[in-house]
Amino acid sequence: MPGSERSYEAYLETREREGSRRGLTGIEARDARSISIGDEAYVNFASNDYLALRFHPALIERARVWAQEYGVGAGASRLVTGNLGLFAGLETKVAALKEKPSALIMASGFQANASVLQAVFDRSVLGAEPLVFSDRLNHASIHFGCAASGAREIRYRHGDAVHLGSLLSQYQGDERPKFILTESVFSMDGDVAPLAEIGRLAREHDAMLIVDDAHASGILGEGGRGLSEEADVVIGTFSKALGSFGAYVACSGTFREYLINRCAGLIYSTALPPPVLGAIDAALYLLPSLDAERAHVASLAKRFRQGARSLGYDTGASITQIVPLIAGSNHAALSLSKRLREAGFFATAIRPPTVPAGTARLRLAFTAAHSTADLDGLLEALDDRALPRSATA
Ligand SMILES: Cc1ncc(COP(=O)(O)O)c(C=O)c1O
Repeated sequence: MPGSERSYEAYLETREREGSRRGLTGIEARDARSISIGDEAYVNFASNDYLALRFHPALIERARVWAQEYGVGAGASRLVTGNLGLFAGLETKVAALKEKPSALIMASGFQANASVLQAVFDRSVLGAEPLVFSDRLNHASIHFGCAASGAREIRYRHGDAVHLGSLLSQYQGDERPKFILTESVFSMDGDVAPLAEIGRLAREHDAMLIVDDAHASGILGEGGRGLSEEADVVIGTFSKALGSFGAYVACSGTFREYLINRCAGLIYSTALPPPVLGAIDAALYLLPSLDAERAHVASLAKRFRQGARSLGYDTGASITQIVPLIAGSNHAALSLSKRLREAGFFATAIRPPTVPAGTARLRLAFTAAHSTADLDGLLEALDDRALPRSATA
């Protein structure tokens, strides 16, 4: 065994001691509402399938038909022979949904953030080191893309446009190219960035605004178009409210052409397979007709926040379908998750480094597959004086 293996083992032992070791659980899912682990069934409050499209007959059928007609793989990267005609139609639809001149489909949200940002911050192309202003709670894939480019992030306080403005002012007159990076809906908090204000600052300081719309696309905004209208560049995924897999960048034509020439995640990776493109196509078709589902999800989340707060839980600044129950320590979050499981509800404990130290939490997400009875059951399970409460309870 190579000596390095011992170091990995020591790392795992430390994670174990700190209560932050991660592991993979075998899951069975036959519908959008529930999961089974072994012989136990749970109502699933830990999925990002906000519109319950993953099992929608229209998506399944188009995935099946496109697999039959076009095969189960693209066979090559898009720059070689994988750029099937299916992409052009889908990219036109994505560009229209996001109200941008063009769009480019990529393999996954993580890959898009990691490789698009690396390309965009290339100082040999920009002619200078970029000034990258970034919300400190941005998703790991955003920080990863910045690190891969070698760009230093100038992190502003979470959701704080005033702090962002004051940092931008410190660089007033600096000729280096400026960028602002933010999520629209934050994945672990369910709060929304002050996008109108950030957009105004971007224009005032001639900065390019790049918004990760992963958790708003499909579920928020008119017709499910997301919350990215202020953005110059939108990055989002088809893997959450749109039910399947893959990602997109919606942007100017020049930006798209630049990515085709410079973005390693597009150039050196096989194109998405036709069945996935079929599922994306069907989801995009359905989106405008899903207002009732969006309203149902919003109302469940609102009722849950009210109920959980009245029981003394800390739900942070959530105003969307994602609602955290902030428990504080890792052990408190893990034991809250365990107690809910014993009552038949599945919610994952999210711990540092995914969230800041001392804010371990359960991340609950409401979907169109949940009923009001599910919500009532969840609140009832939380209304147990023996359950660990948040620090503020
Ligand atoms: C804000 C944000 N961006 C990007 C991603 C990555 O997307 P994907 O799951 O498609 O790789 C996620 C998902 O975890 C996310 O929460």
